[in-house]
Amino acid sequence: MLKFERLVFLGFLGLVACGGAEEKSPVDSGQPSSLSPPCDVAARVNYTNFGQGFLIENCQGCHASSTANRYGAPEGVSFDDVDQVWQHADRILERSVYSESNMMPPAGGPDVDALTRLEWWLLCAEEGT
Ligand code: HEC
Repeated sequence: MLKFERLVFLGFLGLVACGGAEEKSPVDSGQPSSLSPPCDVAARVNYTNFGQGFLIENCQGCHASSTANRYGAPEGVSFDDVDQVWQHADRILERSVYSESNMMPPAGGPDVDALTRLEWWLLCAEEGT
């Protein structure tokens, strides 16, 4: 339940940040919130249009089987392809989105927009995409 509430919150932030979806905004309409689960729109985020680039930029330096130095990243945790990512989807969400300390990547980097997309991808997309 906590994850869902957070998703709704991030989804709302996303709408505000994009300045879109005026018609549906409970703030503008003065109606009680009727936001449907943002997976309606968030399901558009997937490996091809977001995940691969995100992982190359933020994770592959340590979590690719081809990397020269993993800086201690576990051998079994590589994100070379979409299937490997989905094998670790829960841990990726935990370490990169939900964790308040002990974040991945260790030095930080992804902004809130990128982390929102990461969450939308791994919670809403069809598994394996
Ligand atoms: C600078 C190197 C480095 C980068 C970049 C990095 N990691 Fe890691 N990662 C590590 C190390 C070291 C460990 C093992 C120690 C630990 O778990 O904190 C690890 C462990 C993990 C684990 C397995 C441990 C667990 O809690 O299940 C996951 C999943 C993970 N990283 C996800 C990510 C994701 C997702 C990114 C990119 C957003 C990322 N990492 C970026 C170094 C890195």
